[in-house]
Amino acid sequence: MRGIVFTQSGAELTDELEVRAPGPAEVLVRVAAAGVCHSDLSVIDGTIPWKVPSVLGHEGAGVVEAVGSEVGSLKPGDHVVIATLASCGLCRACATGHPTRCPSSLGNVSAPFTFRGAPAFNFAGSSVFAEMTVVKEVQAVRIDEDVPFTVACLIGCGVVTGVGAVLNRARVSQGDTAAVFGVGGVGLNVVQGLRIAGASRIIALDSVPAKEDLARRLGATDFVDASREDVVARVREIVPHSPTRTGGALGAGGVAWSFDCVGHPDVLRSAIDVLDWGGNAVAIGIPPRGSEVRVDVNHLAYVDRGLLGCRYGSARPHHDFPLLVELYREGELLLDELVSLVRPIDDFAEVVAAMKGGEIARGVLTVA
Ligand SMILES: NC(=O)c1ccc[n+]([C@@H]2O[C@H](COP(=O)([O-])OP(=O)(O)OC[C@H]3O[C@@H](n4cnc5c(N)ncnc54)[C@H](O)[C@@H]3O)[C@@H](O)[C@H]2O)c1
Ligand SMILES: [Zn+2]
Ligand SMILES: [Zn+2]
Repeated sequence: MRGIVFTQSGAELTDELEVRAPGPAEVLVRVAAAGVCHSDLSVIDGTIPWKVPSVLGHEGAGVVEAVGSEVGSLKPGDHVVIATLASCGLCRACATGHPTRCPSSLGNVSAPFTFRGAPAFNFAGSSVFAEMTVVKEVQAVRIDEDVPFTVACLIGCGVVTGVGAVLNRARVSQGDTAAVFGVGGVGLNVVQGLRIAGASRIIALDSVPAKEDLARRLGATDFVDASREDVVARVREIVPHSPTRTGGALGAGGVAWSFDCVGHPDVLRSAIDVLDWGGNAVAIGIPPRGSEVRVDVNHLAYVDRGLLGCRYGSARPHHDFPLLVELYREGELLLDELVSLVRPIDDFAEVVAAMKGGEIARGVLTVA
């Protein structure tokens, strides 16, 4: 079958993949559509170290082709969005509603594929840049059949990561102010999560000025061109300490929430520097391993500032995915707007180039 395989020499389209049959608690999914997330590109460029050969893609939706003998929640023909979390359901994290902290959900590397006859690994437990993939039952979340796969797939990473960071991790309150650094596939969903949460001021910042229109369409009240402006000064101008002063002691002024959706330590530092007293920065972007951020601890300790990490929108997929579908149906969650281009998997390189150009929200591959 066809797919995108990551090897020592990069990512390549191949038709020399095979996938094994599902185990007792697994399902075989025929992938219909898959969004390209920056994390896939980070595997290719080495930012996220991963085994080779492996099958890329982790934001996908499709149709259940076959189920293992112990699977009770799904049947062939069901439409599903694939979650990357193969959580165990039994540990303390799972039992308290935090599957993103389940030890079984991190790594989850196995080799359900073969590439040219030799074992090939999965990526993020999902590997959706392939005609078929095998995932654990818990990872396949059933959705209604009338949701197009090209939008449903986005829920599997970019949407849940962005909206979940706002609603699950930050729990932003109505009227709060926020700054979103990097409005790509994830950041745009932080923006719309903030709109849904009722944030009063949503400042989108991106180094590509062409992102402004879409950011505003999804809910941004302000846009800052990070390639030209002093981002920290600009945010403090937009949300000043008082009507007469932009700043104050210990960095007063700025926003209640900031989100780094880029994955660079300098950006995270800016995200901390734009916080008002009591504000919290949420680290979503993934920089290379070992990346560090420096901060004056007094600016945290004296005035209740915080720094939070957020994996996969701190999601509970079986609760959150249906909720996100419902918000889409109600017109609250804009998904069609996020699909900038749809191309067959053969045009993977074209989608990657468009992403690197920075002007698209999400590129989606149609697979089967
Ligand atoms: N924590 C998680 O669970 C999780 C999940 C998904 C993605 N991620 C990570 O989130 C990050 C974003 O992913 P994405 O798919 O949205 O990427 P993307 O490529 O779609 O978007 C990144 C955006 O950041 C902008 N940008 C780049 N440098 C910038 C800078 N210095 N200042 C402001 N804007 C800048 C780009 O123009 C682009 O709009 C990546 O690091 C990815 O690995 C993390
Ligand atoms: Zn992702
Ligand atoms: Zn668990």
